[in-house]
Amino acid sequence: MGQPLAWGRRYLMVRPDHFRIDYVINPYMSTQDQPDPDRTMAQWESLRQAIVEAGGAVEVLAQRPDSPDMVYAMNLGLAIAPGKVMLSHMRFEPRRAESIDAAAWFAANGFDVARTGMDGVGPTFESGDAFVFGDSLVVGYGPRTDVEALKHLATEWGVRVRGLHIAHEGMYHLDLPFCPVDSTHAMIYPPAFDEPSRAALAGIVPDPIVLTDEEAFAFSGNSIVVNDTILMPACSPRLRDILTGLGLRVVVLDLSEFHKGGGSIRCLTNPLDFELSAAAVPGGEVLLSV
Ligand code: ARG
Repeated sequence: MGQPLAWGRRYLMVRPDHFRIDYVINPYMSTQDQPDPDRTMAQWESLRQAIVEAGGAVEVLAQRPDSPDMVYAMNLGLAIAPGKVMLSHMRFEPRRAESIDAAAWFAANGFDVARTGMDGVGPTFESGDAFVFGDSLVVGYGPRTDVEALKHLATEWGVRVRGLHIAHEGMYHLDLPFCPVDSTHAMIYPPAFDEPSRAALAGIVPDPIVLTDEEAFAFSGNSIVVNDTILMPACSPRLRDILTGLGLRVVVLDLSEFHKGGGSIRCLTNPLDFELSAAAVPGGEVLLSV
């Protein structure tokens, strides 16, 4: 039986004052299908309120007018309590200005800011690819994060990093096919990974909840657990039975405007309370499956 997650009670979100689809960097985006500003704000506000109702705390950062994807705050950086962050170094140039405001926010809020690279120089790292789970920092690489960034994370913080090779264009960040639920359970979508990483994932997650194609593409894996509540953009009856069986209260929220940019609940929320002590290993190490 799993223990409740040690994190997921404190989040950073970006108010979507400038959310648009200006360019296409994932298969869900189309400049022909623009979000409605009023619905966007109402959906975002319902998510913020649901986190607070579940006993979580939300800090809010303003959106840069030149950065339409900044609403997906999960990618601003990987924050570790009490005070360090690995800033994202985005794969695609149109998202790189987000790091200017992210760096300023983290520094102003007491985080030591580190980077894997900047302005296209050095390995890319997008924090939607990283979760603390079990005895390691689990990091997806391939579509967005360069494998070289894993070494950087491991040595910078002296932690065990387990890399999973993402091999699916629709599952371009780890937070789409992987969602920690408690200390032993995680929702996973194995087709997102190459064969060796699928096998590695089986060793990382003691109690997998395997998503169907339909569940994965409804963004059910892009959910967040806040205390005993799981906030989900979609939940099949099957998944609801499994999650309520684990003692969770399932709350389904409509985030359809944000699905137009290729992200949902997890992407919109950056956890500020990850803890890395269980992953500590002198000098750091990277474990890849090839
Ligand atoms: N349009 C954004 C991008 O492609 C969506 C980011 C979704 N965020 C996430 N953590 N998966 O970069």
